[in-house]
Amino acid sequence: MKMQQAPGKGFRDGFTTNLGVIAATLGSAVGLGNIWKFPYLTGVNGGAAFIIIYLLCTLLVGLPVMITELIIGRRARADAITSLQKLEPRQPWYLVGVSGVIAAFLILAFYSEVACWVFAYIFKAASGVLASTDPEVTSQAFANMITNPVQSLVWQWIVLVFISVIIIAGVSKGIEAMTKRLVPCLFLLLLLVCARSLTLPGAAEGLGFLFKPDFSKVTWATVLTAMGLSFFKLSVGMGTMITYGSYFRDDQNIPGTAARVMLADVAVSILAGLAIFPAVFAFGFEPGAGPKLLFITIPAVFSSMPLGGVFMVIFFILTAIAATGAMLSLMEVPVAFISGRLGWSRTTATLVTLAGLVLLGSTAALSNSTMADFKLLGMTMFDLLDYSTSNVLLPLGGLFLCLFIGWRWGLENIRRTASNEGSLNNDAVIGAFYAVVKFVTPLLVFVVLLNGLGIIKL
Ligand code: PFF
Repeated sequence: MKMQQAPGKGFRDGFTTNLGVIAATLGSAVGLGNIWKFPYLTGVNGGAAFIIIYLLCTLLVGLPVMITELIIGRRARADAITSLQKLEPRQPWYLVGVSGVIAAFLILAFYSEVACWVFAYIFKAASGVLASTDPEVTSQAFANMITNPVQSLVWQWIVLVFISVIIIAGVSKGIEAMTKRLVPCLFLLLLLVCARSLTLPGAAEGLGFLFKPDFSKVTWATVLTAMGLSFFKLSVGMGTMITYGSYFRDDQNIPGTAARVMLADVAVSILAGLAIFPAVFAFGFEPGAGPKLLFITIPAVFSSMPLGGVFMVIFFILTAIAATGAMLSLMEVPVAFISGRLGWSRTTATLVTLAGLVLLGSTAALSNSTMADFKLLGMTMFDLLDYSTSNVLLPLGGLFLCLFIGWRWGLENIRRTASNEGSLNNDAVIGAFYAVVKFVTPLLVFVVLLNGLGIIKL
């Protein structure tokens, strides 16, 4: 039996089992992106045609950046900023890590607000407030919640404290232990809702909507959307995967793990589509409802079916689980930096991060009420946090990470780390990864960045 190192000076917590690594990393990737963004983007962008393009983008953009981050993190065994400093002390590449820590903090400030609506919806669904087949009524229930400053703030605080408690418990005893239990539950609940949705009369039309490729809806803008989604989905561009990579075991197969996580993440997205669209069509609701789909259409859809109340609660529980894994990975980025760099205890680092999030997060929480008229660059704080991270910081971070690993760090270093010092026989995989990450990914990410900044309009 392997001896467990006793926590003490110099001890660095990490993931302990292969399953734990997969659960935590998949827990980070799976989130609101799968259950909310992916289905509606697929719905409005040509069904299977979009899925094919998204898979290609994931292979050429999301996955290479994910492998890049994991390699950097495991090699340096430190937080996002220190890792880059360790690998290249003479040049300012660590600034990419700085942008990552800031991005993770900013994303969590608004992501926790959307997540808290999901948590609140579990209780609202259970209490029957959402039990109406009329989207007008569910729309009113949603508006009542988001325009109420007290509800918005308190629910966000509850969610942030919940995440903080897990983070304080540690990497193996908190994040790993929690995601190892939650991720299988998520799959189980999702399959349950899929079974319900697919056995409704009229479900086939929803399948056609999701899977019939309609290439006439595909434009360059679709491709850019798919690329942006592949970034957000795999939680890359902000040092999340550098931080998690630093907790990987020495014998963990990095490219293999990343590919497995990517495939499982796509599976969750498609299952979410299967849970949602057959039911939406069976009851004649609007599939292209966009972002409103999750909070307005879905309650009305569930209310239309037998046992709908129960399935609605299950659905929001599984969405809350998905959001939890994602938030854990976001919070770990600043916490790892503060505790690793300033030498503060994990508890203090988490409490400081929590305090910052409560402050900044409240500007996102109040964007639909008290601060609705407060605009910066023409956007509410919620929109600004979303825009500045998704369109600017993430692609920028991803671009520089590819440039670093492809052009600065080089093939030999990559080979050593990704083959576990030669113990894995994966030369061909590494060669393909190197070619893509050096030439293809940076070019594609650069186009996404220019588009996000509005410099080019495709
Ligand atoms: N991957 C998450 C999702 O799809 O919802 C979002 C996310 C989590 C983005 C963690 C970035 C991150 F660091």
